[in-house]
Amino acid sequence: MSDDESDGTADESDRPGGGFGTRSVHAGQRPDPETGAQAPPIHQTTSYVFDDADTAAARYALEEEGYIYSRIANPTVRTLEERLASLEGGGDAVATASGLAALDSATLVLAKAGDNVVCSTDTYGGTTAYLSKTAAARRDVEARFVPTLEYNAYADAIDEDTAFVHVETIGNPSLVTPDFERIADIAHDRGVPLVVDNTFATPALCRPLEHGADVVWESTTKWLHGSGTTVGGVLVDGGDFPWAEEGYEEIAGPNHAYPDVDFSRDFPEAPFAAAVRYRSLRSLGNQQSPFDAWQTLQGLESLPLRVEKHCENAAIVAEYLEDHEDVAWVTHPGLESHPTHENAERYLADYGGMVSFGLEGGFEAGKTFCEEVELASFLANIGDAKTLVIHPASTTHGQLTPAEREEAGVTEDLIRMSVGIEDPRDILADLERAIEAATRACRGDDP
Ligand SMILES: Cc1ncc(COP(=O)(O)O)c(C=O)c1O
Repeated sequence: MSDDESDGTADESDRPGGGFGTRSVHAGQRPDPETGAQAPPIHQTTSYVFDDADTAAARYALEEEGYIYSRIANPTVRTLEERLASLEGGGDAVATASGLAALDSATLVLAKAGDNVVCSTDTYGGTTAYLSKTAAARRDVEARFVPTLEYNAYADAIDEDTAFVHVETIGNPSLVTPDFERIADIAHDRGVPLVVDNTFATPALCRPLEHGADVVWESTTKWLHGSGTTVGGVLVDGGDFPWAEEGYEEIAGPNHAYPDVDFSRDFPEAPFAAAVRYRSLRSLGNQQSPFDAWQTLQGLESLPLRVEKHCENAAIVAEYLEDHEDVAWVTHPGLESHPTHENAERYLADYGGMVSFGLEGGFEAGKTFCEEVELASFLANIGDAKTLVIHPASTTHGQLTPAEREEAGVTEDLIRMSVGIEDPRDILADLERAIEAATRACRGDDP
């Protein structure tokens, strides 16, 4: 097909090179065929004109490809979806309004009332709350939490009603990396898919689909976008799980919302993604907006460069904290002292931009430290170009019980630091000042 005839859809095969850096910039996109615009246009439209009634009917029946309404699909959002599917190595992807919207969309398709989800305890507080307080209480989907590294516990927890097993690549905020292949084998032996939250690693550091995961989701709000301006999420379908064999009724067999459609038959490359689009996005309205997708596409272009710098700076910060007398403990996947350093070495290309630590002054020192930083921002995000800090026990995990916090690896003194891409000397100077101020305040010393 010549450029003139092009429909503008993605085909990375006509791009020079298929390396990760090249795909971060090009996958899913080519210059706009009508105008030659190099940047992806923002298709800020709700709907798409049908040529005739037969076309309209065929699109609604999913017999013909084509856009209908932007709650279901939008060309700018499609560019982002195709780029992320390429970066994660999946069959297709669906972008959502937030990371949690991705989890909700996946749960809707995979779990019916009466099912259960087996989830590792080293998990983001919002995911824990979604599963235990929302899915469980409002959708009758039971949440079964198992200690992340106790592999037999996954086997014991899975039964015939288990909809999926869920783990994070690098747990938030304990930074624990599980043995994915082992958990995938346990889940697959029992006919259950493994769903991985890859937010902390991004595909620049780990592609869980290469290690047995069946579905990957992430918050694009964090490193994928990278500048802290845009909330979003994505679900990536690995395309290999035998949905029909294992009886996933929203994905395989005649669909009760589309009686003539069987997603596993009609969308064989990525039936889960198709089911999410036509069942979850269509009915929940969890879709991502074109402007947000466009913003995230800008961020993705520099993903490999930013992640490299985040990792470099986080390693410098972790070493500095390890040697600091007022620091009680520090954890970072790259430190040999980290309990899952070996898994991190095996599964991650580098160790990520997160560092967690505790001050000798405990809970109060953790809170004061967050108030005292000047270069770093005290806020609820991670994965920004700027350094960010928070004290989870009094904020993100504040609504969990002390026992739930302990299970999630959130000690009372824990400070979570998302290390930015600033000059490392400035990050260390800020840390030094804030640690000193927090320590002094907790000792009751005069300034
Ligand atoms: C590991 C992890 N997963 C998912 C989410 C949820 O993402 P979002 O805030 O985009 O809904 C977060 C948010 O902090 C997170 O840290």
